[in-house]
Amino acid sequence: MQFKNELITVLAEESGLEESVFTPLMEIPPQPEMGDLALPCFRLAKEMRKAPALIAEDLKTKIEGKLPWLKKLDVVGGYLNFFYDPALYATAILRQSREEGFSPGSGIEGNGKTVLVEYSSPNIAKPFHVGHAFSTLVGEAIANLYEYRGYKVMRLNHLGDYGTQFGKLITAWKHWGDEKALAEDPITELNRVYVKFHQELAEHPELEDEGRRYFRLLEEKAPEEYALWELFREVSLEAFAKIYRRLNIEFDNMNGESFYSDQIPAVVDLLREKNLLVESEGAQVVDLEKYNLNPCLILKSDGATIYASRDIAAVYYRDREWDFYRNIYVVGLPQKNHFQQVFAVLKEAGFAKADQCIHVPFGTVRFADVAFSTRQGNVILLDDLLAESVSKTREIILANNPDMADSEVDRIAESVGVGAVRYTFLRNGRERDIIFSWDDMLDFEGDSAPYLQYTFARCSSIMRLAEADKIWPLDQVDLEAAGKLLTGQEEQAIFKLAAGFETAVLEALNAHEPSIMLRNISQLARAFNRFYHSSSILHADNEEIIKARLLLTETCRIYLQAGLQLAGIDVLDRM
Ligand code: ARG
Repeated sequence: MQFKNELITVLAEESGLEESVFTPLMEIPPQPEMGDLALPCFRLAKEMRKAPALIAEDLKTKIEGKLPWLKKLDVVGGYLNFFYDPALYATAILRQSREEGFSPGSGIEGNGKTVLVEYSSPNIAKPFHVGHAFSTLVGEAIANLYEYRGYKVMRLNHLGDYGTQFGKLITAWKHWGDEKALAEDPITELNRVYVKFHQELAEHPELEDEGRRYFRLLEEKAPEEYALWELFREVSLEAFAKIYRRLNIEFDNMNGESFYSDQIPAVVDLLREKNLLVESEGAQVVDLEKYNLNPCLILKSDGATIYASRDIAAVYYRDREWDFYRNIYVVGLPQKNHFQQVFAVLKEAGFAKADQCIHVPFGTVRFADVAFSTRQGNVILLDDLLAESVSKTREIILANNPDMADSEVDRIAESVGVGAVRYTFLRNGRERDIIFSWDDMLDFEGDSAPYLQYTFARCSSIMRLAEADKIWPLDQVDLEAAGKLLTGQEEQAIFKLAAGFETAVLEALNAHEPSIMLRNISQLARAFNRFYHSSSILHADNEEIIKARLLLTETCRIYLQAGLQLAGIDVLDRM
């Protein structure tokens, strides 16, 4: 970042253009022979009224000799390519890494701003399936990224704990519920009776009416129905809490949909006051034709509240409560239209922050090798996925370390097995569908969490061995001398990736796309291993080289740690 920033400053000074003209243009050439950084001049041609190649020549003459670390400039076609002095570059990155300590790429531009990240949001009495896992893991990573850049983050879980389906569930429970089964495995039992309700409907259509009646009683807080609903909620929350504990995720607020139910009359009043409510087949809707969207249903013909109204009420509540800078929803792609409608209604109602509400969608999950037992029909539960991943990891660890103590194997298997699942949800662009494959997920050499964790452990073990000798306190090493010993292609590749980490963090945050940040550390891990296999570190020719390589190793270790932690993946000092 530092060299790039200095370069942009000089380019702006010498050309008379704004820095902001250059910032988005700068790119990293695909091959190192083409330079360390490049400025494509094509888009400057219009403004400067000159051919791109001439602009490049002109800028070259102007900035030549202005920056001590700029070893060479080259004009190729319409590109101006910059070559760093590798030793000075190495020293600069090492220095930067020593200065920023364990939070490389963190920042403070978010100070004073509150970002709400809503994620996970499972439905009570329903299984916590892989779709909710997707939301949970992507949401947690996004929350971490915001926090890393100084934002105050509120982690919100908008529990699906309300709606007409609970009238149906109460009906089903009253007919077929089994207390003992509920005590043993509440969600399985509740799901069983709910599924049965729908199976029985064909023969007993009157069940529909019964369900509606119970939902009305629930809305009126009738003691018996309300108590049942509270019980369903409580047992579900206990089951979810176990999952969150295992994933090390804590929410700041778990207001479910039910919480907003009482606030809907106020929303209805507001929409009516603004003349936005129109009647359609007995229901109250907001017309959204000018947004090219279907009307948003606010109140049903029987007066029952619905999903969208609860979401609208929630936005007003959240803003009153937390005065948000951004209100982010990590929810699957199928709900895209729903959020477009909700945000459009807010806009129509004159809510000033409608554009600060953002839907962050994700794709679906499929399985390549579905030799996988599920307890719950065709949905795959996160619990089952984690259990299988950890048990498979356990076998691998044990095969590689037959003498390791059982408790140690368990601890590592849990971190690596859970990490592998997390990484699988995070490593690709989130709108792409995920195809799970155990072979890929647990490939210790592939693009997997175990590979990254293993590389981190490798760096840690090198540092541990070095420190045991206590002869090379790194803070006393001369960084300039070290830089001169780290000019090879492999070392430089590592520095380039480390230097790109902050940009990757920022891009990941802006696009709500943790995969961008993970790609950086995954490439860093590859680069480190290439270096590791071609150069010996602790047995290098002389002490100066050992010290320099240790500094490089420590830099990798810190960046890998930061990236893995942002993704919520455990780092282990040994594996
Ligand atoms: N509970 C919903 C589901 O499982 C997701 C809730 C999304 N959040 C929201 N504010 N509508 O599909």
